[in-house]
Amino acid sequence: MPLEGTCEGQMACSTCHVILAEEWFARLQPASEEEEDMLDLAAGVQRFSRLSCQIELTEELDGIEVFVPAEARNAQRY
Ligand code: FES
Repeated sequence: MPLEGTCEGQMACSTCHVILAEEWFARLQPASEEEEDMLDLAAGVQRFSRLSCQIELTEELDGIEVFVPAEARNAQRY
């Protein structure tokens, strides 16, 4: 997955921003206010955007698909 995750889950970067299909988005716990604030700063935010570092993977989410926004750039790859 070409995601940078610069802050390693501290909600200080938004480089882990992903977009989900509505059916998967609806299965997640609601985003915290802090996550919403960080998403406000992310490029290419859409209705079903989340910070992937805040998604707790459970068996119920087995098979989840996420999309990396076209605006995303992984600075660790260059
Ligand atoms: S890794 Fe920085 S907010 Fe998710």
